[in-house]
Amino acid sequence: MNSKLIAPSILAADFANLQRDIEMVNNSNADWFHIDIMDGVFVPNISFGMPVLKAISKHAKKTIDVHLMIIDPDRYIKTFAELGSDILTVHYEACTHLHRTLQTIKSQDMKAGVALNPHTNVSLLEDTINDIDLVCLMSVNPGFGGQSFIESTFNKIKQLKDLITRKGASTKIQIDGGVTNKNAKQLVDAGADVLVAGSYVFKSTNQLETIKDLRAIANS
Ligand code: DX5
Ligand code: ZN
Repeated sequence: MNSKLIAPSILAADFANLQRDIEMVNNSNADWFHIDIMDGVFVPNISFGMPVLKAISKHAKKTIDVHLMIIDPDRYIKTFAELGSDILTVHYEACTHLHRTLQTIKSQDMKAGVALNPHTNVSLLEDTINDIDLVCLMSVNPGFGGQSFIESTFNKIKQLKDLITRKGASTKIQIDGGVTNKNAKQLVDAGADVLVAGSYVFKSTNQLETIKDLRAIANS
């Protein structure tokens, strides 16, 4: 069976010590860097943009998983490819022509991800699931780190897993928001493949150990 993956969210890093925190992730058991880009329009917060991602890419030695919380993401697909993104995730709610957006992402040699807000039903991906490499189920309302996990996510994981199996797709399921050692095992048992963890990792006293434990729990 494939390993379950851990993706620390850089949103919770210390931006005044960004290189130090990136090196920590490089030296850890983590699998991906999760990078949250917010525009202050799609979500009520602004995180960081292209120059910061460029700086991160220079040091990051693992897969760069970019989560775009921006309206009309098609405008920047090529730019994010040039900045070193390996996976580019757009929000279902932000795309008028999702199928076209997914093809454009893939034409830039990136994996294509789609994120669903907590209110967005999994069944809306019925006609696109075979074109999606990663579905990011938001287990908090996007915009901020450190929020509590929304329990109804478990049901959505099961629905999504059923859809993927029924359609014969190879889509990975990612969970984003409020992930800790307390819910990691249950998330993986429900069908999750990738766990994003921001505050749980970066606010802990021993970040390397926290990542190691989380990964071990997810793969137990
Ligand atoms: C929220 C972001 C998440 C966030 C998760 O909008 O998409 O990636 O950083 O943070 P935690 O793990 O603290 O909930
Ligand atoms: Zn995210």
